[in-house]
Amino acid sequence: MSVFDDLARRIERWSALDRAADPLAAAVGRAARPGPVRDLLSGAVLGHPLHPLLTDVPIGAWTMAGLLDLVGGRAAPAADVLVATGVVAAVPTAATGLHDWSDTRGAPRRVGLVHAAANSAALGLYTASLLARLRGRRTAGKALGLAGLGALTAGGYLGGHLSYVEGVGVNRTAWRRGPARWPDVAAAGELPEGEPRRGVAGRGSLVLVREGERIHALDSVCSHMGGPLDEGEVAGGCVRCPWHGSVFRLVDGSVVHGPATSPQPAYETRVEQDRVQVRARPR
Ligand code: FES
Repeated sequence: MSVFDDLARRIERWSALDRAADPLAAAVGRAARPGPVRDLLSGAVLGHPLHPLLTDVPIGAWTMAGLLDLVGGRAAPAADVLVATGVVAAVPTAATGLHDWSDTRGAPRRVGLVHAAANSAALGLYTASLLARLRGRRTAGKALGLAGLGALTAGGYLGGHLSYVEGVGVNRTAWRRGPARWPDVAAAGELPEGEPRRGVAGRGSLVLVREGERIHALDSVCSHMGGPLDEGEVAGGCVRCPWHGSVFRLVDGSVVHGPATSPQPAYETRVEQDRVQVRARPR
């Protein structure tokens, strides 16, 4: 285990962070109710998480500014523009990150808090760097930028830890393919109209919903963070996740409202001798 990984693991266990993280996450959760704002911040409108897309802008701009600061001379104005670009871009980037972080729990929430603190420090240092440059204090501006790059690197490392080690922001159904054959999953006569029921197919689980003659089957593990869709609410041809309110169409699993950005796997169904059978849709 590297020293950086060891540090991230220590943060995961640092329970004192919960005293700050939990009230802040609750406040963000109250402010960002399911709806258009949440769809925008999460990236549901794009079908892709928005935060990792936006992070490229300040990281790229500030990294290149550092390089041009080293070159100096006629590269100085371009470095200043890049510092300013990063400062402007960091604001929506932080807003989307704060939104995503508010849905986490436990260890990822602690790491996310430190990730946000490091990136906020980077933003503060680069803002100070920009002000120093505008006042003609280039040496101070460069030094502040260099310190900002250090904070940005620490924040970026923890952001990577959140995604690649903790699995935050990853489609939780990415490896769930559904059954290749037609296993029995429920008695058709026992499925009530418009209410979710849990079904099991091999090692996978499903949410089954009857709508008239039609029976829908989606994977029961919410693509957002693994919430149980079989405990969700069904209305208007959709199922709503009980954890963070993502809404998926029953007919095809597409996202109607975030924070989920990936569709829910939807399976083919048929009824044979009153038994509901499901199969993965051909790709
Ligand atoms: S787990 Fe977050 S919306 Fe389903």
